Amino acid sequence: MKIPGRRRRPTGPGAEALPAQSAEVFPDPGVEVLPDPGADVLPGAAVDAVIELAAAARTYPGPPPVHALRPTDLTVRRGEYLAVAGPSGSGKSTLLNVIGLVDRPTGGHYRLDGIDTGPLAEADRTALRGRRIGLVFQAFHLLPYRTATENVMLAQVYLATPRDRRRTEAVDALLAVGLGHRLDALPSAMSGGERQRVAIARALVNRPSLLLCDEPTGNLDSASAGRVMDTLDALNAGGITLVVITHDPAVAARAHRAITLRDGQLSEKEAKSSTGRPR
Ligand SMILES: Nc1ncnc2c1ncn2[C@@H]1O[C@H](COP(=O)(O)OP(=O)(O)OP(=O)(O)O)[C@@H](O)[C@H]1O
Ligand SMILES: [Mg+2]
Repeated sequence: MKIPGRRRRPTGPGAEALPAQSAEVFPDPGVEVLPDPGADVLPGAAVDAVIELAAAARTYPGPPPVHALRPTDLTVRRGEYLAVAGPSGSGKSTLLNVIGLVDRPTGGHYRLDGIDTGPLAEADRTALRGRRIGLVFQAFHLLPYRTATENVMLAQVYLATPRDRRRTEAVDALLAVGLGHRLDALPSAMSGGERQRVAIARALVNRPSLLLCDEPTGNLDSASAGRVMDTLDALNAGGITLVVITHDPAVAARAHRAITLRDGQLSEKEAKSSTGRPR
């Protein structure tokens, strides 16, 4: 099947929340994008919902089976900033991997941008993830003997982008996270916060509409964590939808919404604000 491309100049509800900043920082690469075929968007899908989980669950086969994510309903709208908290082993990474199309739910349904991901073949899931989702893991996963720019360029190797343009786009992504002065630095010569921002730049370089972060400030001192949080705030202000796993109350405080997982069961405190950030 054809993978629908991200809309360039969207209209309709939620359009105002789309990445004005990204459009500015990332020049249009001119990549051929397939139009979104309406047939893939299920009737009844909320127009501005990016993530829609309906009784989505994930059980690891045992013995004994582990119900890492119990049947979960969750809708995240375009432009939202959602914090995910919960004790170790409660299912946070499992949830993020389902949302990030890394793992399939073993039950229920997941629609991304209105597209039912259930019937997609593995190659289609990978292509959809590559176009729309950026993932930032707690361990930075940077190659030690490659510069910041080269590490970001690695995210594009699966695209048929010429090397020169990959470099330009990688530099743009590093500028967007405030690392214009560290383009040629090796990870070993960077602070933890800078490395994490390289990882964020790498997740951003293909211009996703959804950024997923697993403990982005987990290993950082408070000053570095502050820079990473500022970067996430700026990206969200530019329209990117953010889902951030965090144990850090300071990160959760910046989000619009906070959910908590316990033993794979999701609960949500009342939203601080239905429209914007709680300030
Ligand atoms: N591949 C796997 N096979 C079997 N069980 C798994 C697997 N991965 C995770 N689990 C189990 O699923 C549950 C949820 O794990 P998950 O990694 O989602 O937790 P988490 O909330 O991210 O924890 P942490 O805060 O420690 O990262 C745990 O009980 C874990 O042991
Ligand atoms: Mg985890």
